[in-house]
Amino acid sequence: MSIVIAVDGTAASGKGTLAKMLARHFGFAHLDSGALYRLTALAVLEAQGDPASEADALKGAQTLDFNRAGDPAIRSDIVGKASSQVAAIPAVRDALLAFQRDFLTRPPGGSPGAVMDGRDIGTVICPTATAKLYIDASPEVRARRRWTELKNMNIRRAEQDVLAELNARDAADKSRPVSPLKQAPDADLLDTTDLGIDAAFAAALALVSSKVEGALKDRHRG
Ligand code: C5P
Repeated sequence: MSIVIAVDGTAASGKGTLAKMLARHFGFAHLDSGALYRLTALAVLEAQGDPASEADALKGAQTLDFNRAGDPAIRSDIVGKASSQVAAIPAVRDALLAFQRDFLTRPPGGSPGAVMDGRDIGTVICPTATAKLYIDASPEVRARRRWTELKNMNIRRAEQDVLAELNARDAADKSRPVSPLKQAPDADLLDTTDLGIDAAFAAALALVSSKVEGALKDRHRG
């Protein structure tokens, strides 16, 4: 394994933005593991399949097109809900495991480290991660952030609908039997409710930097 920063947390907690900023700061590769589940869901929906069907979802995981990770289509609420459905299916998680472990073992571009954000990175994908963060914020603040994000994409939604969807997705992610969303015992909790992005990044850096710098020094020595 390379040096790994695992960033898990609730929907719209800011974990993706923080993971990207940490990767840029340390010169590490970044993977948004949620995109893998969203791409799986997109493949199922485009094939007119049922995201709750194991056969359809597994086919989606096996045929997902990673080149579409930047496609705004995967950010829609419909795909978000379907991604949580496919993510509850053990065969789908197994199918996506190798890609994630390979990324952490050999980060692209020969980078010495990787930052991966998701729901089970510190608990299942990489329990031995160098540093682990669990990002959360109040549901109302997260709903406001997601609503603003959607508005900027010209998608008009009622804020209470966005809140209801976030709560439903978190409840599903936390209660599923396989790889549920939870804070790893050795993860540091970062609550971003009252923090802007710069303050949240400073707090995240303060939590991980001694572990990551120590691992980088060990690598240079070794
Ligand atoms: O992070 P994002 O909101 O894009 O993730 C979409 C969905 O993918 C989540 O609601 C969750 O059900 C699933 N997911 C997961 N494990 C991960 C990342 C995402 O189950 N590591």
